[in-house]
Amino acid sequence: MSLRLLVIHGANLDLLGKREPHIYGTTTLDEIRQALEASAADRGHGVSWVVSNHEGDLVDALGQAMGKVDGILINPGAFTHTSVALRDALLAVSVPTVEVHLSNIHAREEFRRNSLIADVVTGQVSGFGVDGVYRGFEMLMDHLERSTAD
Ligand code: DQA
Repeated sequence: MSLRLLVIHGANLDLLGKREPHIYGTTTLDEIRQALEASAADRGHGVSWVVSNHEGDLVDALGQAMGKVDGILINPGAFTHTSVALRDALLAVSVPTVEVHLSNIHAREEFRRNSLIADVVTGQVSGFGVDGVYRGFEMLMDHLERSTAD
């Protein structure tokens, strides 16, 4: 069965590759996009892609995705730590979701340690750079393929 996957990137992630490379690495968001699209295509799945620095755009995109996507990979950037609206939107869409962070948010400043979405997602991958993003996406597909096979 072909899955409809939604990949969301929030604040400042459009700057990946140039932004604090000692923390976030040198891979650009375009390169991440190509890798995720290739890995979904290999398994016969489709990906839609949302990138925005505006919280409301992400909330709108999630609202529009209701009933139209099977699973979500999300790196909300700084909205992770601030956005009740994003949390509520994920609860509304209510599909398996993997939260990813390039850096280990639990080993950084105190304010980054709290994710407002961590307890409403299926799981979190944090601290493995782009490998964690790629593996998190594979775990999402594994999880969905298992549950749709039942
Ligand atoms: C991030 C971690 C956040 O705390 C930060 O605001 C980001 C990136 C990460 O991928 O490590 O923008 O989500």
